[in-house]
Amino acid sequence: MIRFALATVAVLTATAALAVPPLPPGTPAFASLKGDPVAGKTDFTVCKTCHSALAGQNRIGPSLHGVVGRKAGTIPGFTYSAANKNSGITWTEPVIYQYLISPQAYVPGTKMTYPGQKDAQKRANIIAYLKTNPTS
Ligand code: HEC
Repeated sequence: MIRFALATVAVLTATAALAVPPLPPGTPAFASLKGDPVAGKTDFTVCKTCHSALAGQNRIGPSLHGVVGRKAGTIPGFTYSAANKNSGITWTEPVIYQYLISPQAYVPGTKMTYPGQKDAQKRANIIAYLKTNPTS
């Protein structure tokens, strides 16, 4: 029983490691940054062309309310690209952090045309803001 549990942990760990490929050289590790949710609200402005952080509001992009920890392609009523929907991605914080560098590089074929946020601190701030699951 204990051996089974350990084997399961090993498999889960291996899967999680596979889900996040190595960061581009020179990119600070997500864990080394502290996201500021207040600054993140401002840094999120560029995303608001296409996204709302409020629940149930799909625009050009799906609502990002509750996106941290969510499986890709699962917002009801939003028509995703096959690339996103079949990506198997779970939007953990390190995954969003890397995705936002270049969405098209991370999910080839995505219909998110945004070219990417190259500023690591701003990506961390946006994630901290999204984690607050804004209600206004
Ligand atoms: C030009 C419009 C546009 C901008 C700007 C944009 N996005 Fe997107 N985003 C989209 C579209 C469209 C999708 C759906 C992608 C697909 O189905 O391939 C998407 C998908 C996503 C997803 C996956 C959601 C899911 O449910 O699978 C995340 C996370 C995301 N965007 C975050 C952001 C963040 C954070 C920003 C700002 C830094 C941003 N996006 C800027 C259009 C945009």
